[in-house]
Amino acid sequence: MEAAVLAVVLFIGVALWSSSSSPAAAAAGTKEELEDGDDQRDMRGGMAITAALVVVAAAAESRWAELGREITYDGRALVVSGARRMFFSGDMHYARSTPEMWPKLIAKAKNGGIDVIQTYVFWNVHEPIQGQYNFEGRYDLVKFIREIQAQGLYVSLRIGPFVEAEWKYGGFPFWLHDVPSITFRSDNEPFKQHMQNFVTKIVTMMKHEGLYYPQGGPIIISQIENEYQMIEPAFGASGPRYVRWAAAMAVGLQTGVPWMMCKQNDAPDPVINTCNGLICGETFVGPNSPNKPALWTENWTSRYPIYGNDTKLRAPEDIAFAVALFIARKKGSFVSYYMYHGGTNFGRFAASYVTTSYYDGAPLDEYGLIWQPTWGHLRELHCAVKQSSEPLLFGSYSNFSLGQQQEHNTPKVEFRNISLELAPKSISVLSDCRNVVFETAKVNAQHGSRTANAVQSLNDINNWKAFIEPVSQDLSKSTYTGNQLFEQLTTTKDETDYLWYIVSYKNRASDGNQIARLYVKSLAHILHAFVNNEYVGSVHGSHDGPRNIVLNTHMSLKEGDNTISLLSVMVGSPDSGAYMERRTFGIQTVGIQQGQQPMHLLNNDLWGYQTTFSTPPGNDAVTLNLTSMGKGEVWVNGESIGRYWVSFKAPSGQPSQSLYHIPRGFLTPKDNLLVLVEEMGGDPLQITVNTMSVTTVCGNVDEFSVPPLQSRGKVPKVRIWCQGGKRISSIEFASYGNPVGDCRSFRIGSCHAESSESVVKQSCIGRRGCSIPVMAAKFGGDPCPGIQKSLLVVADCSNADLAPLPPSLPGARRARRSLSLVVVAAAAFGRGTRAVGHTDSSVIAELPLRGGKGRPVFESACREDSGWTTAAAAAAGLAFPRLLHGRVPLVWLNL
Ligand SMILES: *[C@@H]1O[C@H](CO)[C@@H](O)[C@H](O)[C@H]1NC(C)=O
Ligand SMILES: *[C@@H]1O[C@H](CO)[C@@H](O)[C@H](O)[C@H]1NC(C)=O
Ligand SMILES: *[C@@H]1O[C@H](CO)[C@@H](O)[C@H](O)[C@H]1NC(C)=O
Ligand SMILES: *[C@@H]1O[C@H](CO)[C@@H](O)[C@H](O)[C@H]1NC(C)=O
Repeated sequence: MEAAVLAVVLFIGVALWSSSSSPAAAAAGTKEELEDGDDQRDMRGGMAITAALVVVAAAAESRWAELGREITYDGRALVVSGARRMFFSGDMHYARSTPEMWPKLIAKAKNGGIDVIQTYVFWNVHEPIQGQYNFEGRYDLVKFIREIQAQGLYVSLRIGPFVEAEWKYGGFPFWLHDVPSITFRSDNEPFKQHMQNFVTKIVTMMKHEGLYYPQGGPIIISQIENEYQMIEPAFGASGPRYVRWAAAMAVGLQTGVPWMMCKQNDAPDPVINTCNGLICGETFVGPNSPNKPALWTENWTSRYPIYGNDTKLRAPEDIAFAVALFIARKKGSFVSYYMYHGGTNFGRFAASYVTTSYYDGAPLDEYGLIWQPTWGHLRELHCAVKQSSEPLLFGSYSNFSLGQQQEHNTPKVEFRNISLELAPKSISVLSDCRNVVFETAKVNAQHGSRTANAVQSLNDINNWKAFIEPVSQDLSKSTYTGNQLFEQLTTTKDETDYLWYIVSYKNRASDGNQIARLYVKSLAHILHAFVNNEYVGSVHGSHDGPRNIVLNTHMSLKEGDNTISLLSVMVGSPDSGAYMERRTFGIQTVGIQQGQQPMHLLNNDLWGYQTTFSTPPGNDAVTLNLTSMGKGEVWVNGESIGRYWVSFKAPSGQPSQSLYHIPRGFLTPKDNLLVLVEEMGGDPLQITVNTMSVTTVCGNVDEFSVPPLQSRGKVPKVRIWCQGGKRISSIEFASYGNPVGDCRSFRIGSCHAESSESVVKQSCIGRRGCSIPVMAAKFGGDPCPGIQKSLLVVADCSNADLAPLPPSLPGARRARRSLSLVVVAAAAFGRGTRAVGHTDSSVIAELPLRGGKGRPVFESACREDSGWTTAAAAAAGLAFPRLLHGRVPLVWLNL
């Protein structure tokens, strides 16, 4: 074989990294860079360094020869059937989308240059009850892996089984909490036994299905544990023993593929230690052996979203820079985007305060739409790196300075007689040492804007039913009574977010009504307080706020017995931290102090709503706009689409999440039953059913841009296309010349080719996509010689065959008030076991009471001192979710 020299040059420019005003950053919605606690390193500062990393490989003989189906690794890469491979991976969690969505998600990832789909395995969906397994529907792991295999991609299987993942209880089934003498994630026999059982169960299943690579399957690597190093010190000597045990246990299962531990610098051989974070190109300490490759298992595409914060998106330039830096500086050969598709935290699977929508700004958005320009920019990066993968994987790296203190915004550098411009905080890839094939800081991919189009208003009062959850007052129906405050998760077994604590208090004052002060301290997330059936106040916490929430309010007491009903609400269980099994939640202290002013009382007993809606025609993703509601959970045809919380506003004044995805797989052809359980009120008549699609696309490319790698030809092009079967219906803006602005705001500049619009219309109207060369000849000649030109095109996508929004129904607002008068009997919910308690006149439904061993955690206290009566009593009532969740512990308290 002829010896050839292949080379790739990666120029790394870190110049004055001031606020870049790139159009892409603006279009992505934020210019702020993301912050990350332990990974954050400030790269700003006056000093500019520009370095070139040249990787040169002398091509040799049979490097790429297929051996048998075998996976190994060396100091440079995973070695697949004898060949080192450069892998781009995308995280996508099967339980966060539906089987109907999987094929398209995987296809779009493949088209984006992804080679590997990485997923966690979620123990608590597979073994919700000890010994009873579920691998159906969204939880059909084997089907998900087979779909990936069918599309020719590989799988990275992160078994954990602790996964964190902003997922309920970090993926652990709650029953693990009640295993006697258990200490999670430590050298503890009961824990190790259960962990080993589950990991063995999954590995055996994968082997049985022939899914490991040596068996002909797609799984090339798997993970044991997850970021354990973060909590390891809390366990003393038990921690390192557990790490060694976990590694040996995993390796002993003989999967035939390597194991890794992420964020575990001392991962025992042969387990590979890998990096997670935003900027592994800077932070990764490297593999702990020269024989292990540098793998980046979680490249965070944004921060996970929580209620109370605005969404922060990461600019595509920043993501591309970090990936290229990891490859250049750390010799990285595997990068996984966390998430490539985030999806939806259906039901109650979101961890504390985490929104129902998960990583909506990933390259594929929550609905599975391609999120531009992130997807397109990374696709170009993948292509550029893969073109150069031979030198990157086999060549030797050399590193030299191209000069110091380049204080221009875009310094020019000289390299081997060619002159290049290098933007601040950017990396340019030259695949042959001469021609730039990719620049991280220059986004040529198309932009797109997504629209939630209201297609149905649910504002017809006649189609709604409401039902009431009365405030729990009847102590005779409690599951637990006593003079202790029960720990919340232990009591509910994390089967519901809700627990009533009811305290009875005898007012001995002789002068009738009294104003008193109510003080409640809780370790749960939300508290609603009622005194003698009247609402007196609510309080809630936040993800980054103090653990305690405190309600300190006035209430009116009557003479004799008073009932204080406290509804304690969890917005998700914890997903991380050492000794997670010992974490406590629920009400800690209840205090009553007599005296003071009267308070305005509200009635807040309206609890549930139901209606039906029709399935929107077409294929667009479907979503509910719940902006008019408060806090609760929503079901569609019996499937929970997750918690919602729109009353908790982010600093911008907007809800953190106002749209809630309904996968089309949950819909029936005709009427769909919509049920909401609402804690705080709200107006269901303003809910709309929306379809979500990309309605506007935009390209902005200058004449010196790198031509797209995927197309032949040497001319830069604006390439735009519509998704979901839509076609380009009109051109909003087109200018070849020096248009001013970017894809969000634009106008014609001093130079403009008159033919711009007609040329673009000719090429694009009526098509799914089009590609227009950025060259004068295409526009009838150069409109202004000597001026640098670009082409900016903004086009609309439409689905011509679908009807527009039907007019909203008249009279709905007028009818609104009467809504609260409607009380629906349990039969409306099909199973007749909806709710607890009774209305004033009739019992709605009786629930079977559920016994259970409580593990009271808090001190019991019942004392009178300095005017305070601290009544510590617990009662758990359980609100609703019986509906669709099965057992509802109905607990009352007694003092
Ligand atoms: C939420 O926003 C606050 C304030 O900006 C920030 O300190 C915190 O890190 C954010 N939390 C997450 C999880 O992004
Ligand atoms: C390359 O050189 C720069 C500046 O001398 C240095 O900071 C950097 O760590 C070097 N990179 C590698 C991969 O050696
Ligand atoms: C750069 O140009 C000089 C003079 O023309 C030539 O001698 C040298 O070989 C060139 N270097 C490279 C790397 O092409
Ligand atoms: C959702 O509905 C509210 C009115 O309730 C409206 O102001 C808001 O713009 C809608 N949001 C979206 C994304 O359509």
